[in-house]
Amino acid sequence: MRSEVTALTVRELASDDLDAVAGIEQASNPNPWSRSLFEGELRMSPSERHWIVGLVDDAVVGFAGAMFVGEDVHVMNVAVDPAVRGRGYGRALLAELLMRCVAQGGRQATLEVRRGNMAAIALYRHFRLGPVGIRSRYYPDGEDALILWAHDIDSADYAAVLLRLGGRSGEAGD
Ligand SMILES: CC(C)(COP(=O)(O)OP(=O)(O)OC[C@H]1O[C@@H](n2cnc3c(N)ncnc32)[C@H](O)[C@@H]1OP(=O)(O)O)[C@@H](O)C(=O)NCCC(=O)NCCS
Repeated sequence: MRSEVTALTVRELASDDLDAVAGIEQASNPNPWSRSLFEGELRMSPSERHWIVGLVDDAVVGFAGAMFVGEDVHVMNVAVDPAVRGRGYGRALLAELLMRCVAQGGRQATLEVRRGNMAAIALYRHFRLGPVGIRSRYYPDGEDALILWAHDIDSADYAAVLLRLGGRSGEAGD
């Protein structure tokens, strides 16, 4: 299924998106994932992973993905093309991803974020993802990771949060 979020179209990641996704990742992450790492994610079962891309005028402008660990949704990566940041796309992508993950049985969300990544931390705060711990020197360059969690993401209250933040589908799959 496809869904319109502001000017953004969201659908599941496909192999044709991999070059664009790897390019955005390269421009976004100090230790970027390789193209083949994303390719490997596509080979995982839908019960283990959910990856989406956001498109404007058919061009990929961002992506987000999560791993399922039981009822825990581990957000693995989210990034928006630097040229179009600050337009609500990151918020809409994460809202859509979490809606889809809730529809697949997710009840909690967690992720690691660089301690100094203020933009991402501010984004996650909108999603009630709060710090529960620190992984010391988690990243290859020695930066600490904050561990964030949000509970009860399957509640009606949280569904309203996701709707407000730009999620639309509430359904798993394309
Ligand atoms: C984090 C990221 C995905 C946000 O995407 P975006 O499309 O620019 O974000 P949005 O426009 O949807 O903004 C949503 C919220 O994020 C926060 N935010 C975004 N950019 C920010 C900035 N430069 N400084 C502070 N807060 C910022 C704000 O809270 C904002 O909400 P507000 O507009 O109500 O204040 C983007 O900055 C990015 O790709 N960063 C590099 C990759 C990365 O760090 N990913 C996270 C890995 S854990």
